[in-house]
Amino acid sequence: MATQFADQTAFTYRSSPTANEVFEQWLHANPQARPVHTHPWDVSRSDIYVNDTWGPIFAEMRAQAPVNKVTGTPYGDYWNVVSHKAVLHVESLPEIFSSSWQHGGITIGDPPPDIDPAKLAERQLPMFIAMDRPEHTGQRRTVAPAFTPGKIVEMEAEIRRRTAAVLDSLPLGERFDWVDQVSIELTTGMLAILFGFPWEDRRLLTFWSDWAGDVELTLASELSDQRFEFLGEMAHYFQRLWIDRMGRPPSPDLISMMIHSPAMNHMSPQEFMGNLILLIVGGNDTTRNTMSGIIHALHQFPDQRAILEADGSLIPNAVQECIRFVTPLSHMRRTAVSDAELFGQQISAGDKVVMWYISANRDEAVFENPDKLIVTRENARRHLSFGHGIHRCVGARLAELQLRVLLEEMRERRLRVHVAGKVERVRANFVHGFRLMEVEVERY
Ligand code: HEM
Repeated sequence: MATQFADQTAFTYRSSPTANEVFEQWLHANPQARPVHTHPWDVSRSDIYVNDTWGPIFAEMRAQAPVNKVTGTPYGDYWNVVSHKAVLHVESLPEIFSSSWQHGGITIGDPPPDIDPAKLAERQLPMFIAMDRPEHTGQRRTVAPAFTPGKIVEMEAEIRRRTAAVLDSLPLGERFDWVDQVSIELTTGMLAILFGFPWEDRRLLTFWSDWAGDVELTLASELSDQRFEFLGEMAHYFQRLWIDRMGRPPSPDLISMMIHSPAMNHMSPQEFMGNLILLIVGGNDTTRNTMSGIIHALHQFPDQRAILEADGSLIPNAVQECIRFVTPLSHMRRTAVSDAELFGQQISAGDKVVMWYISANRDEAVFENPDKLIVTRENARRHLSFGHGIHRCVGARLAELQLRVLLEEMRERRLRVHVAGKVERVRANFVHGFRLMEVEVERY
């Protein structure tokens, strides 16, 4: 689709550093402002994710105190919820453990304490991921029909075509960055196709979702302001896209479908925009990081790669296992709205409660040998990477489809990918993934 948007907004972003890089540069220039994490169980520290050293800390907590409170962190005081059972429990009580942005939202970061409530409300686009019942129920119900099994089947051919094209463009026996050439290219390309997002601007989706997902930026007020500026520009962009699409006849893409769905008429323009952004941006870095994580995990466990290469019927289960192993979002946050007892601990109204999916997915009480990728694992589907309960990921089927098709098309071409150079992980406590991963591809 030819777009009138590309020239106006996009070019400045293309050469811009990522949110992660900006934060690192800022820390370099302001060493005194580096967040200080003194508590041994303060797992909000991003260095443990960028260095991939988080495993033993969570294992210690699971063994000693699956629900525990840490105090005096750069994110204030918060409760760690780290076992599979305890995360399920919190997810199952949305009346006590709120997702609402008015209470603090879904990530460990808080808005600046001195922010004027009117300004906060203005910055906050309403999204149902950060709402409680009953508003959440109505809005989710409106969006969910776009992701039914029938709709997902309709998307498969297009996703397969796009995946095949990207895989066919890869150089054999040469080093390249899998994150950039495959994970970003595939996820943004697929979202652009599914939502009818302007093709030339698809990398903006990566730029925006990086700024949206980088919770650590909230620790630096000037970067927090910068973040909201970019997110404001994103909202503005989507608004123009929406207005443009309203003036056209209905088309098969999801934005058009949302505009022309009678149920959408009940949403305010602000809500429509917020949810559109949630769908497009929320599905972006998560799927992207899983696509990188799968390659990294299969490289780390060559015995499992060999099992998968020998038997393609294992692919659907391997997808589940990879999503467990990778855990693309480390946590979701809730805020207690009333006092509650949680596995022997007394939680007070107003307390911040952080559910660490990254730990629940390695809970040895549920997953045998949890630190190993096992493509034949029988209960891989019990992972909590998509959450659980009323907020469980709406896009889970779409994400699973994209990952399954990627593995199937790789198999079709007998492509084997080796990590062959630099690997850089994202410095963040929320988005869990890879910034760069140099690989080489060969045929087996
Ligand atoms: C919710 C993870 C892909 C759209 C969630 C939640 C998680 C999650 C953990 C629960 C939030 C909570 O409980 O507070 C993931 C992962 C993905 C993925 C790991 C990929 C591997 C997608 C895709 C889309 C999407 C592709 C859409 C195109 C959403 C939406 C919600 C959500 C709209 C809000 C659901 C609600 O609040 O009721 N996701 N997601 N996600 N996800 Fe995903």
